Amino acid sequence: MKSKIISIGSYTPNNIVTNQDLEERVDTTDEWIVSRTGIKERPIADDSQATSDLAYEAAKIAIERANIDKSEIDLIIVGTCTPDVATPNVGTLIQKRLDLKNFPAFSIEAACSGFIYALNIADKFIKSADSKCALVVGAETLSRITNWDDRNTCVLFADGAGAAILKPSDDRGIIFSELGANGEYAELLHVPYGTSRKPKTPNEDDYTLKMSGNEVFKVAVKTLEEIAIDALVKSNLESKDIDWFIPHQANMRIIQAVAKRLELPEEKVILSMDIHGNTSAASIPLAFDRAIQDGRIKEGDTILMQSFGAGFTWGSVILDL
Ligand code: UT7
Repeated sequence: MKSKIISIGSYTPNNIVTNQDLEERVDTTDEWIVSRTGIKERPIADDSQATSDLAYEAAKIAIERANIDKSEIDLIIVGTCTPDVATPNVGTLIQKRLDLKNFPAFSIEAACSGFIYALNIADKFIKSADSKCALVVGAETLSRITNWDDRNTCVLFADGAGAAILKPSDDRGIIFSELGANGEYAELLHVPYGTSRKPKTPNEDDYTLKMSGNEVFKVAVKTLEEIAIDALVKSNLESKDIDWFIPHQANMRIIQAVAKRLELPEEKVILSMDIHGNTSAASIPLAFDRAIQDGRIKEGDTILMQSFGAGFTWGSVILDL
């Protein structure tokens, strides 16, 4: 028994912030942002939109494309580090918007690895026959925890959501999935204040993401290279067996380094940070959907996905679509 992704849907807010817009706000240039990250523009939620609103839009599209009755859904898992509120969780908020009830709906916080973590958990529910139709979502409004006057971070982060419907299959589906984490690096990428330990601060900036970019970069490349090779070895595949590589969209240079190590030609690498920026848990399903919609990814393809994010957390999934 395997878990098969039968559809993907995605949603990004209409409001687009370009590199030129940011040049007017902080000391940066389009040239710096594009050459260091690959990002040209990013969708940013308007004031009325919370994470569950973006997640709901992506979910609706995934359900429609799956050609299922929404009442078939018996599990919702959302990866997010920017929930609407501390509780209730975004999974139950979407469940209610979809007019569904009486099955597990929850979110998990694994930052940029949120979608891969959620996929891994849904795969286990399906393999154990606890779910016959799972909705897995990665959704974020990172703009709400970004300091728009800090050039180190505001050029990177963005808002969006991607959703997948999974069903059991005895043919194609997820053939490998593994997660990892190392809390030793927690302070290299974190939000210092808010919620439990340090709930209140007079300094608004303390509620926003702080990243030691260059140090994160180095650990990210090393970890992602290792887990990509490991995923191939453990699933008895070679690079040439992979049709598409869909990595977390943090930085084009990180992705190029990993692809080079895997000897994957650049035509097989799905990039979407140019128009999406870094949307954390939403970035992989957003890139996935983009490549399905433009006709690159097709039924029958073998796909390697991998993520790396705050925590640090990481994970990889190989699937036959
Ligand atoms: O998604 C979760 C995981 N996140 C990641 O994987 C992100 C990993 N890190 C990165 O993607 C990169 O480290 C960044 C894109 C964040 C930064 O690129 P970098 O090549 O590592 O630059 P840097 O931090 O070493 O900074 C180089 C210079 C510095 O100036 P000095 O000290 O050399 O004078 C920065 O102050 O670039 C400066 N800088 C900027 N300049 C123009 C930093 N941000 C900007 C900016 N515009 N927006």
